[in-house]
Amino acid sequence: MAKEKTFVMIKPDGVQRGMMGEVITRLERKGLKMVAARFLLIDRSLAEKHYEEHREKPFFTDLVQFVTSSPVLAMVWEGENAIAVVRRLMGSTNPQEAAPGSIRGDFGLNLTMNILHGSDSASSAQREIALYFSEDDVCTYERAAASWV
Ligand code: RTP
Ligand code: MG
Repeated sequence: MAKEKTFVMIKPDGVQRGMMGEVITRLERKGLKMVAARFLLIDRSLAEKHYEEHREKPFFTDLVQFVTSSPVLAMVWEGENAIAVVRRLMGSTNPQEAAPGSIRGDFGLNLTMNILHGSDSASSAQREIALYFSEDDVCTYERAAASWV
């Protein structure tokens, strides 16, 4: 299985509810490795680029308004099959339908305020990482426990 990088972002509700530690803990315990992080308030232009695939959707304005309403924690995580693994840890888009045990399933109720974002494909991951990080921001290192995971 290929080692992948994926873009993960704790959304404004996750930050406001004090859930950054919970989300990071779950990804770490799974065996994934954080390789970049940036805490920032997204501006409208970046939010529109991030969610450009949804530009024509009826919820686009609300989505952009929400993700720019308070700071977010943008991160890059690495691991075997990391893109799909993170999506499973997140749970379905609508937290009311997300499986218990997933982050959205355990902690969310609201379709817009669904705690975190994760890339949905290799091309999205590459595009999203480049939106938030330069190549120098992404660390290359080994975790001591990697061979035990
Ligand atoms: P995300 O991109 O934030 O990780 O979420 P996702 O892949 O699970 O869902 P996506 O289809 O990419 O939608 C992006 C965000 O838009 C909001 N949404 N609202 N019908 C609706 O009103 C609707 N559908 C989607 C959600 O907040 C979703 O996270
Ligand atoms: Mg998405």
